Amino acid sequence: MSKHRVTRRQFLSYTLTGVGGFMAAGMLMPMVRFAVDPLLKGGAGDNFVPTDKKVSDITSEPTRVDFSFKQKDAWYESEVTNTAWVYKNEKGEIVALSPICKHLGCTVDWNKDKEHPNQFFCPCHYGRYTKDGTNVPGTPPTAPLDVYEYRIKDGYLQIGKAKPRKGA
Ligand code: FES
Repeated sequence: MSKHRVTRRQFLSYTLTGVGGFMAAGMLMPMVRFAVDPLLKGGAGDNFVPTDKKVSDITSEPTRVDFSFKQKDAWYESEVTNTAWVYKNEKGEIVALSPICKHLGCTVDWNKDKEHPNQFFCPCHYGRYTKDGTNVPGTPPTAPLDVYEYRIKDGYLQIGKAKPRKGA
């Protein structure tokens, strides 16, 4: 009768090789995904998200525009909804501002502080911003609201990345 006995040394060597290989795969997979993902996506570099906002409907009054997109985190894909405050300035140019307060990240609202009308207002610590997103000195935020890149496609607004601006 032949008995195949595994020595203690062999057992350890098999186990460690297995565990090491598993860990290496765990580290390498995200790197491979990271390298390959943008290629698989097609249209890489096109970071604009369509909205249902008709450009002809945009007025000088900031309006909330929600837009959703799929976001991949490691293994999961989830639907994310973001918001922009959108209006046309005196020159008729579209302005799309991020609603994320530059103090501690609460969400700003338009024209909600009765004492300071026509400003963006953050209820968390009474942060305020003028209509162009500039932080009002003496209130907690230390930088203007980020401004979104945008483009117009078939008469509808598309929102791109939010870009930070220098503080007031
Ligand atoms: S988070 Fe907006 S004022 Fe503090």
